[in-house]
Amino acid sequence: MENKKTKQLKNFKIDNEQKAGLTTNQGLKMAEDEFSLKAGLRGPTLLEDFHFREKMTHFDHERIPERIVHARGVGAHGVFQVYESLEKYTKANFLNDSSKITPVFVRFSTVQGSRGSSDTVRDVRGFATKFYTDEGNYDLVGNNMPVFFIQDAIKFPDFVHAVKPEPDTEVPQGASAHDTFWDFFGQNPESAHMIMWAMSDRAIPRSLRMMEGFGVHTFRLVNKEGKAHFVKFHWKPALGVHSQVWDEAQKAAGKNPDFHRIDLYEAISKGDFPEWELGLQLIPEEDEFKFDFDILDPTKLWPEEEVPVKLVGKMTLNRNVDNFFAETEQIAFHPGHVVPGIDFSNDPLLQGRLFSYTDTQLSRLGGPNFHQIPINRPVCPFHNNQRDGMHQMAIHHGQTSYHRNSLNNNQPEPVPESQGGYEHYQEKVDGRKVRERSESFLDFYSQAKLFYNSLASYEQQHLKDALSFELGKCKSQQVKDNAIAVLNHIDRQVAEEVSENIGALLPQENNEVKSDKKSPALS
Ligand code: HEM
Repeated sequence: MENKKTKQLKNFKIDNEQKAGLTTNQGLKMAEDEFSLKAGLRGPTLLEDFHFREKMTHFDHERIPERIVHARGVGAHGVFQVYESLEKYTKANFLNDSSKITPVFVRFSTVQGSRGSSDTVRDVRGFATKFYTDEGNYDLVGNNMPVFFIQDAIKFPDFVHAVKPEPDTEVPQGASAHDTFWDFFGQNPESAHMIMWAMSDRAIPRSLRMMEGFGVHTFRLVNKEGKAHFVKFHWKPALGVHSQVWDEAQKAAGKNPDFHRIDLYEAISKGDFPEWELGLQLIPEEDEFKFDFDILDPTKLWPEEEVPVKLVGKMTLNRNVDNFFAETEQIAFHPGHVVPGIDFSNDPLLQGRLFSYTDTQLSRLGGPNFHQIPINRPVCPFHNNQRDGMHQMAIHHGQTSYHRNSLNNNQPEPVPESQGGYEHYQEKVDGRKVRERSESFLDFYSQAKLFYNSLASYEQQHLKDALSFELGKCKSQQVKDNAIAVLNHIDRQVAEEVSENIGALLPQENNEVKSDKKSPALS
């Protein structure tokens, strides 16, 4: 089970079994660890007690800020192997060689709750995978649902402020039943499709091992010849997709808040290793405009009947972490961590994410050197002219630290594309600077309706029950009425049943829009 990452991490393990004597951080052996130094038998503690001060100071700083979203998570190590070379589509080395085993680390998470919240709440689940490839780390930072609530990153802070506990009461923790969340929904009907997923059984998975994963955005694969395909990434669980029922999930949240993390840990400990197949939906670059939606819109999925999912490889999680903090808490994912052969699209949500992750990690992980933390280190060599900064772990030596340098022949130099250097895909961009999007982004309801209609009748009932439960908790009549107005665009019968259950206004007319037509935000 030893792979490059396992071997690398071994170098950082501190082994308590060595039975070495207790020392201070300066290596001084200490004769006492239970009694602080006092002036007399009943006197005050002395400032001179450096051991007490060092121990307490370190303890005082044990906590780091939790992630602004996805704070509660659980992770595991594993491996990924592609079935056959995908060189037709991408030059990414780890997708070109079916004999190559790439180490991975996956962190699953809930989105809304704090680090100490419950596992089985109704929420989206994060599904983030770090591939430690020979060409650098590649991160697929996805969710267990194929679309998202908003279309543009500029709305993300508003969305998260509405989703998080309300600022005056800090209520609720780990549930979506509150006014601000539903107010955001009523005011932002672009979230209609995602709301249907979030109110469906997908939001209460039975086990993390039984969840699909989605990269959500449109990315690009680029082959050696420079030919590009648009791609959507999928993870398909070997165990199939299974959910809890709402009552069960609520009971588990109370009786066993660690339900999912224990399930994952125990399965891996027993050798019952969870597996997912990696799936790709591919659209050749020249077919970009063949669809009645914009493929840059993250609130739309690519129907699998139109663009089939090609299963291309398998991921197996086979090792639990040795230390939750060092690995699961300190790992830093970023959709911008790519390797040659994988590139971005202009999805306006993705473009904003490309800024946000490193920015937040600079404060969460204490400065610019968090890539040197063991779990974040690439397994291939990494060197450049960046220097110093908080928590620098490397001793860079030599006189110089800049590029174009005649004093030191060992200075890191850029690597040409022909030798594996990353070059961005040369997409032609030509346009006015605008704060607009293509018109089809305004079609908020077609796919929401499609999703609802694809459910079995008992799943539709679960969804209506969830809407009634969650919306029923809202205090503001206006918020309830607005939410029903949006639901009325998706499905008249859903709006009727839920409005009756929660005592909200049902719009007089059936203001449903035809499923294939653009619609205004709210009528
Ligand atoms: C975590 C920002 C949309 C998946 C985070 C974090 C930030 C963030 C700041 C915390 C990172 C950290 O502290 O390490 C954003 C922004 C978004 C956005 C600005 C939209 C503009 C999405 C979408 C997905 C997603 C669409 C899914 C495709 C995740 C996951 C994590 C995460 C899985 C947790 C990663 C981990 O386990 O450490 N996001 N996010 N996010 N985000 Fe996003």
